[in-house]
Amino acid sequence: MRHDVHLTVNGSHTTLNVESRQLLVFMLREQLGLTGTHVGCDTSNCGACTVLLDGEAVKSCTVLAASLEGSSVRTVEGLAVDGQLSPVQEGFRQCHGLQCGYCTPGMLMAATSLLLDDADPSPHDIREGLEGNLCRCTGYQMIVESVRWAAENGGAGPVATAERGALDPQGTLAS
Ligand code: FES
Ligand code: FES
Repeated sequence: MRHDVHLTVNGSHTTLNVESRQLLVFMLREQLGLTGTHVGCDTSNCGACTVLLDGEAVKSCTVLAASLEGSSVRTVEGLAVDGQLSPVQEGFRQCHGLQCGYCTPGMLMAATSLLLDDADPSPHDIREGLEGNLCRCTGYQMIVESVRWAAENGGAGPVATAERGALDPQGTLAS
């Protein structure tokens, strides 16, 4: 069975026709071309597919696209504003929080959600908050430092903050 779903993706309204079994991660990658959201496992364990759904981090390989009527989704492509990296993105750049980069989009989204929940997390809090996201390269220390950098330099950033707290009735970001 197929369904029309009306939703907002990175601030833009869109209508998509999806199969009942279609997962959000494949809707993003295959129907919208938003390939920044990665697929890293078949077991809901790696977190590479993490996006924000109505301002909360979710593993998009666990969400059915057909369930998203009226929802707002933000992917890694929607974190920067007018080419300016979000504090979390900038933190990963400043503190070398990535190597191969495969886990990075999911890390960025999970870290953004973490900073929305707690603007000043300790290194322990960061490790705990990101435990659902696996990295095979960095040993995590520089990821923790990257998130601390973000906490001290703007936090989750304006887009994610607006999305968590100030969606207008149309699902677009309030100014
Ligand atoms: Fe690994 Fe979603 S692809 S948790
Ligand atoms: Fe390679 Fe994390 S940077 S998996």
